[in-house]
Amino acid sequence: MLDLTGKNALVTGIANNRSIAWGIAQQLNAAGANLGVTYLPDEKGKMEKKVAELVEPLNPSLFLPCNVQNDEDLKSTFNAISDKWGSLDILIHCLAFANKEDLSGDFSQTSRSGFNLALEISTYSLVQLAGYAKPLMTQGGSILTLTYLGGVRAIPNYNVMGVAKAGLETSVRYLAAEMGPQNIRVNAISAGPIRTLASSAVGGILDMIHHVEQVAPLRRTVTQLEVGNAATFLCSDLASGITGQVLYVDAGYEIMGM
Ligand SMILES: NC(=O)c1ccc[n+]([C@@H]2O[C@H](COP(=O)([O-])OP(=O)(O)OC[C@H]3O[C@@H](n4cnc5c(N)ncnc54)[C@H](O)[C@@H]3O)[C@@H](O)[C@H]2O)c1
Repeated sequence: MLDLTGKNALVTGIANNRSIAWGIAQQLNAAGANLGVTYLPDEKGKMEKKVAELVEPLNPSLFLPCNVQNDEDLKSTFNAISDKWGSLDILIHCLAFANKEDLSGDFSQTSRSGFNLALEISTYSLVQLAGYAKPLMTQGGSILTLTYLGGVRAIPNYNVMGVAKAGLETSVRYLAAEMGPQNIRVNAISAGPIRTLASSAVGGILDMIHHVEQVAPLRRTVTQLEVGNAATFLCSDLASGITGQVLYVDAGYEIMGM
């Protein structure tokens, strides 16, 4: 039942070999899924080259630029899926962004533009991608996003991204309620802290990881591949009764009170 052979899966958010999306893509591929990968385009084409080299062994049948702030990119991504695949089964939303200056210091000093930017890229993009995916998920489907404990508790320096994650988790519930009748399931994984490009912008991330290693029941944090395993489960028929949920993949840290 974990077999994803014949399933079309779009994975967003791969930037490098530390990306959580890379861990997810590898495990979806291992389960047999047919992959499509998007990357964030830049003027010099550096990201395209880097991500193309990384994902080549997984043989994605679609490889597309997609900046979620650009409506044309979104339209052409889903047009390409419609043309090449005809339908979509799995959507992985694994991206976020906030200005570095908004990820340390006093939350009350967050600028209007920084607040809007973080919520546009990190939260609204899920709503938007899900809206494009819905008509293509003709046989039902699974949408998965990545969140963090900072969306439900106050974590030092996480600041505006905590607000973005709270909105993201709420969006998961509203999308799940809307799309359930079409057998589209929408869930989130709340991952423990992992060193990545995005997390390195959060002030004191190494201290956060060290703290988790001391306190979490498993006395360690998690790997990208462990998140990928849970993602593969949530996107498979084994999870057919699960929607609207946030699954903690954090070595148990979330249960601890001290
Ligand atoms: N690393 C952690 O500790 C951790 C913990 C819990 C949740 N998460 C979440 O996991 C997700 C993936 O982050 P990661 O830690 O793997 O870091 P990452 O830097 O590898 O991934 C972030 C991705 O977001 C993409 N991105 C940024 N702006 C974009 C835009 N405008 N359009 C399209 N893509 C854009 C980047 O290109 C990158 O691929 C994020 O939602 C993050 O909040 C991370």
